[in-house]
Amino acid sequence: MDLAGGRPVLGIESSCDETAAAVLAGDGRILAALVASQEASHAPFGGVVPEIAARAHLALLPGLVRGVMDQAGLGFADLGGVAATTGPGLIGGLIVGSQMGKGIALAAGLPFVAVNHLEAHALTARLPGLVPGGAPFPYLLLLISGGHCQCVAVEGVGRHVRLGGTVDDAAGEAFDKVAKLLGLPWPGGPALERLAAAGDPARFAFPRPMLGRAGCDFSFSGLKTAVAQTVARFGAGALEPRVAADLAAGFQAAVAAVLADRAGHAMAMFGERHPGVAGLLVVAGGVAANGAVRAALGAATAAHGFGLAVPPVALCTDNAVMVAWTGIERLRLGLVDALDVAPRPRWPLDELAGAVAAPPPPRPPA
Ligand code: KG4
Ligand code: ZN
Repeated sequence: MDLAGGRPVLGIESSCDETAAAVLAGDGRILAALVASQEASHAPFGGVVPEIAARAHLALLPGLVRGVMDQAGLGFADLGGVAATTGPGLIGGLIVGSQMGKGIALAAGLPFVAVNHLEAHALTARLPGLVPGGAPFPYLLLLISGGHCQCVAVEGVGRHVRLGGTVDDAAGEAFDKVAKLLGLPWPGGPALERLAAAGDPARFAFPRPMLGRAGCDFSFSGLKTAVAQTVARFGAGALEPRVAADLAAGFQAAVAAVLADRAGHAMAMFGERHPGVAGLLVVAGGVAANGAVRAALGAATAAHGFGLAVPPVALCTDNAVMVAWTGIERLRLGLVDALDVAPRPRWPLDELAGAVAAPPPPRPPA
């Protein structure tokens, strides 16, 4: 039973440093979507400051929600449900976003969906029209962002199997830390990619951690240390532009090679779990914007006979469209959460299976 009754769903995202709201029609069409990046507030500190993030979400979210409702030309009474990210992430932001979502659901008598941020990234590929031919379950997800780095078999709503993940840094975190070593501003991924474009990836032979190792775990801290040691060899002070570009290119090539190798192992593991299924690798997270990474993953999927789906960058990075869409998918299955559901800073994907189907709250008298 579709608890949203085919009506539009409001989504709210506030788990890290993007404040976002979106309204999707019941069939998944995007009616309105806004994202306010807090990058400028955190950049002076070289990373996300949780307290600043929480206060910014509190200041920005009401205007964003009002904005998407106005753009969609809807009032809360027109909605079929409200979905908000409830974990994993920074607790302050999670409290702000989920409480706002619950407040709207309570006031308008709508079902509330507590969305797992990782499931939202995982289900994005199923947005109508995104992947040619659709993305039927099961498929393989490679999530490579600033906070997450894992391979997941996406087998159904609430049914995800983590095949492997990083044992230390996330891929985006490694980009950010190495960018800092090279004197680039935070967040460093995009700046590092631009610098690497002029560099020689073969000049520095950096290690490729985990390459060929069984399973599909990742590790980036050794690679980061190798870059740090090389930077130190050039002595204190600013690096010559030529050297910085070669370091950036060498590091990026190592990350791309590692991601492709690990994804290759994940594809083999997926194939063993799901023999006979036409394989599809879906990539999500900010690092998916990287051209060298995309090219390496393109070669790896071709070698394994998998299709490759990389959603547009705006849907790969944190956004509220994916949250509203996850709300739609869950409401279609009759899955709704109680209003006393608690935000969870840690919420592994494979703990999702037990989602309870509870009746929606009654609509208040008109
Ligand atoms: O998914 P995302 O926007 O936010 C979360 O971390 O959840 O990912 C941001 C991460 C940052 O670490 C950023 O440096 C990295 O993605 N990133 C990139 C590129 N664009 C963003 N890394 C490498 N190359 C890029 N072009
Ligand atoms: Zn994310």
